[in-house]
Amino acid sequence: MRLISILQTLALTTSFARGIATDFVDKAIKLMEESPLLDTHIDLPQIIRSLHRKPLDAIPLLNGSFPGHVDIPRMREGRLGGAFWTVWAPCYDVVGEDPGLDFNTPTSHVRDALEMLDIIQNMIARHPDDFQYARSSAEVWDAFNAGKIASLIGMEGTHVLGNSLGALRIFAQLGVRYLTLTHTCHSAFASSCGPGTPIDVVHEGDGLSELGKELIKELNRVGIMVDLAHTTVATMRQAIELSEAPVVWTHAGARALWDHPRNVPDEILRMIGDGPGQKDGVIQSIFFPTFLGPHPGVNVSHVANHIEHIAGIVGKSRVGIASDYDGMNLVPEGLEDASKYPNIVAELLSRGWTDDEVRGALGGNLMRIMDKVDEVSEKLKDRLPSSAIWEKRTDLPSLKWGGGGQHTYWPVDVKANVEKMYLRHDEL
Ligand SMILES: *[C@@H]1O[C@H](CO)[C@@H](O)[C@H](O)[C@H]1NC(C)=O
Ligand SMILES: *[C@@H]1O[C@H](CO)[C@@H](O)[C@H](O)[C@H]1NC(C)=O
Repeated sequence: MRLISILQTLALTTSFARGIATDFVDKAIKLMEESPLLDTHIDLPQIIRSLHRKPLDAIPLLNGSFPGHVDIPRMREGRLGGAFWTVWAPCYDVVGEDPGLDFNTPTSHVRDALEMLDIIQNMIARHPDDFQYARSSAEVWDAFNAGKIASLIGMEGTHVLGNSLGALRIFAQLGVRYLTLTHTCHSAFASSCGPGTPIDVVHEGDGLSELGKELIKELNRVGIMVDLAHTTVATMRQAIELSEAPVVWTHAGARALWDHPRNVPDEILRMIGDGPGQKDGVIQSIFFPTFLGPHPGVNVSHVANHIEHIAGIVGKSRVGIASDYDGMNLVPEGLEDASKYPNIVAELLSRGWTDDEVRGALGGNLMRIMDKVDEVSEKLKDRLPSSAIWEKRTDLPSLKWGGGGQHTYWPVDVKANVEKMYLRHDEL
């Protein structure tokens, strides 16, 4: 009996020693207290919305034990420096809305995206000792130096834009810092790699639509990072070629290590860098076990393997960390929730990463890219907004907005002109 328990203790000790790089956890925490860990994808707003009929009523509860992977006590324990809170609403099939094959039937997505932004704004307002809004790298440092978790906004999927560049421009004003070109469905702008299984092709070449190409230019102009997570390889390739600013993957893995469509193939990674024909960028490695290896069994080592594989191609100055907490139904061993971030940092240290390389992976690399995106936007400040519209819209010009018959509100000359336009519209 005694022997067995000694053996068990030994077994536990060894597996523990082989597991989390415990010798490096203190060092990891020290670095994280000096330099912010920026997680580019946390779905907490979605959890708040899913759990409560009146979502704003849930926000005060974040200071205690909250369902899911994330709450303030666990983020503090995990030394999280900053997060991109996700503005997202599920794709059409999930919520039972059908925009049609031409993406032209209105859905609730614009309302829902605005409500998600409202949740984020209220999270920050209700927890001023813990959260501070940030958009630029300087603002991230301001928040971090004030002891707050920098709170940035990422928008996941262009299906929430109502097919409209006008909507995008307004979301830009509300502080959206990155836009993922798709979620698991195609949009009027871009082709998605789907939910894990391929989906029918809708755009020529399975990449960007003409409006999608216009979107890239508009994102460059307004300084929103182009996020290629969730997209097809063709979308990635076209966006990298078109974008005047660096690109990002806010939560993805390496396809060479685990063949999942959500991961970035080596051929695409080779397009990222500062060599001839390359674009700068950063790939933030995800924790979602489904994308990383055979599960169950995915642990901190698998996440580090993906980071190191990506770094092997693009360099250690182009990698980072993105949990996908609150957006996944599985977690890796050792990274079960937001209190566990130091474990992945310790793992990199145990593999010989220098302090500076680790600071880069924590957030320095991403902030360099954010600065470059801002420089491009500044350079383009005299460029006019794109006037492009989704070509399949039939509501423009707004021929019904003046009412009809007795209820015509248009001034007489406008009405006369519009009536002449009916013909032109019919010819479209
Ligand atoms: C992760 O799992 C692998 C086996 O797939 C094992 O070799 C490795 O030691 C584990 N790493 C940690 C940190 O537990
Ligand atoms: C959370 O904050 C409220 C006040 O807003 C306080 O009453 C409550 O005790 C706090 N909960 C925890 C777990 O700290």
